[in-house]
Amino acid sequence: MSKKSAKDTPREENPPVDAAVVPDGTGDATGKDTGAASPAPDGAATEATAGDGAGTPAAGATVTETPRASEPVAPPVLDKGENVLEVRDLVKHFPITQGIVLRRKVGAVQAVDGINLDLRRGETLGIVGESGCGKSTLAKLLIGLERPTSGTIKVRGQDLTELRGGDLLAARRNIQMVFQDPYTSLNPRMTVGDLIGEPFEIHTDVVPRQGRRQRVQELLDLVGLNPDHINRYPHQFSGGQRQRIGIARALALEPEVLLCDEPVSALDVSIQAQVINLLEKLQDELGLSYLFIAHDLSVVRHIADKLGVMYLGRVVEYGNAEEIYEAPTHPYTQALLSAVPVPDPKLRGMRDEIVLEGDVPSPANPPSGCRFRTRCWKAEDVCAEETPLLQVRENSRHASACHFAQKRDVVHGSA
Ligand SMILES: Nc1ncnc2c1ncn2[C@@H]1O[C@H](COP(=O)(O)OP(=O)(O)OP(=O)(O)O)[C@@H](O)[C@H]1O
Ligand code: SF4
Ligand SMILES: [Mg+2]
Repeated sequence: MSKKSAKDTPREENPPVDAAVVPDGTGDATGKDTGAASPAPDGAATEATAGDGAGTPAAGATVTETPRASEPVAPPVLDKGENVLEVRDLVKHFPITQGIVLRRKVGAVQAVDGINLDLRRGETLGIVGESGCGKSTLAKLLIGLERPTSGTIKVRGQDLTELRGGDLLAARRNIQMVFQDPYTSLNPRMTVGDLIGEPFEIHTDVVPRQGRRQRVQELLDLVGLNPDHINRYPHQFSGGQRQRIGIARALALEPEVLLCDEPVSALDVSIQAQVINLLEKLQDELGLSYLFIAHDLSVVRHIADKLGVMYLGRVVEYGNAEEIYEAPTHPYTQALLSAVPVPDPKLRGMRDEIVLEGDVPSPANPPSGCRFRTRCWKAEDVCAEETPLLQVRENSRHASACHFAQKRDVVHGSA
């Protein structure tokens, strides 16, 4: 399904290829030395160096891991224009400790390892990748549920990693989350009215106390629920309706950015389409920007303007969604796309499925160089020696982190 034209109208088009800018060596699109680690609550503040000894190089190979401070392993900035959300060189390493009394750090899970993203007003960025590649950790960092090991997260130009107290609270208003599971993300003991209105108790200046009930009813109406059901409990709603409640709650503070972490994967297929349609309608009406996380590439295609494909904590392909679906250049993206079910039997016959061998390596000990190399059919020695930068390569308009990036027409099932 091609994207709705109404949705495209108010947006700026992507700039031509020659407008793509690779961040300079300082990773300094934020005006800040991104090598400086911000203190993490878990004591992981100093482990932000790229390729910090993790991974085993091929026999005899000299490993040239890219030092992050000088060469960010991150996407180029593809868009001009005002970004609502700007992520630069974002890292989250969870420390692995040993010992019961003296907890010694013996390693780190590199869940997110140097991510750059841009999100403009009214735009949807889809994030896809296999289980464990760091999608939810990325969302938790953006929403403030995890503190980054290093990197910056700017919302409307304000770096959330530097703000504290009331300033942080005010800035966080602008970025809210829709969770995967509408069954567990809503407190069963609270009425729908209390659930949707709860953010007003923290951000007391958004709606005066006497106007809150009416505002909650407006929000129920906005997401297609009956405003008269304000006193019902979550168990009195279906799965799709509960997800609508989750969306209404996320919209209560009138944010510009919604992070949707697999918002439809717990729902029946027929209900999935309704929730996606609702999100598209809300985007058109409110000018929202979405970061939309999914396993299923066919779901993301319906809604995404841009796409970021993640593998083991890094983005390996990034750019215009339509272009990536039509001509993916990274072997990992090609394999993912080739696995999307093809409903049309004629197309199914033409399909050249790529079966990935082996398991995803541990993010605590990722392969040197290209992290995908242990499963890549095109891997050569250089792949173990040099980390491929995510950049726009010859004959392509979008960015790919592969030394041998090459277009491939993958017959896939997403319409
Ligand atoms: N609090 C934590 N402590 C240690 N490791 C963690 C923590 N949270 C996540 N991880 C690890 O970080 C990696 C990325 O996890 P994450 O949940 O972000 O992946 P995901 O892409 O969202 O996966 P899924 O598709 O299954 O939801 C995994 O290896 C996970 O085990
Ligand atoms: S850099 Fe090498 S191992 Fe990595 S995806 Fe490209 S060809 Fe495969
Ligand atoms: Mg997840």
